[in-house]
Amino acid sequence: MYSCLEGEAPPARLEGVRVVGRRIVRLEETDSTNNRALESMEDGTVFVAERQSAGRGRRGRRWHSAPELGLWFSVALDGPLPGLTFAAALAMRDAAASCVALSVKWPNDVCYAGRKVCGILVEQRNHRIALGIGVNVNHQQEDFPPSLRHCATSLSLAVGAPWDREAFLRKLLLRLDESVAQLRRGEGDLLRMEWIRAIDIVGKRIRRGALTGCVTAVEPDGALLVQSGGSLHRVACGDVSLLSP
Ligand code: BTN
Repeated sequence: MYSCLEGEAPPARLEGVRVVGRRIVRLEETDSTNNRALESMEDGTVFVAERQSAGRGRRGRRWHSAPELGLWFSVALDGPLPGLTFAAALAMRDAAASCVALSVKWPNDVCYAGRKVCGILVEQRNHRIALGIGVNVNHQQEDFPPSLRHCATSLSLAVGAPWDREAFLRKLLLRLDESVAQLRRGEGDLLRMEWIRAIDIVGKRIRRGALTGCVTAVEPDGALLVQSGGSLHRVACGDVSLLSP
């Protein structure tokens, strides 16, 4: 596992990648790394920030970006790239797999023991995509705001030891580079099938707001089809919880 101290100067590019990490821009502070990626003209450039003053989460939420503890970064990509969110969640799970078993939770969270370790926010402006990834790396429970303590955790809390953020960033970017190459080769369906297996939600009973029902299928765009009473509902976003069978 990663437990070495952060020592080496961080590279400004990753060797051996096709796209993701060809250039790495380090920022001490920015509003949101997704903004930097959306402005960028360079396919594959990664913007990593030590702190974000206005980090964004899904559904207009604020993303808590504590300095020194996490990885807050965005990859600028030429779009469109359908399936990118699925591919990114799998890449995160796989990059950590030699140290810790993470699970992928619909729609795009990566969790340990039911608590969120990583969030993914893909935004698009014209043909520019920002793949934004936030990973809680070396947080202790008290580093999260009180409102998040019951639902958030970090890689370090999961394994009981500190992680080298730089080494993990490198590993994750290499894995993301593979995933983007797969999507661009037209292998999105394979990745989507792997993601559907990973979220493991078909056949399960869920609650989403006032709706409870059984998930019968996952649509190509990731939306859930939920059978409730006599009708079928399409659930494209939101927070779902699993109910006991
Ligand atoms: C979520 O709500 O789960 C998505 C969170 C995404 C957070 C990351 S941190 C880096 C990038 N910049 C942002 O403003 N958001 C994403």
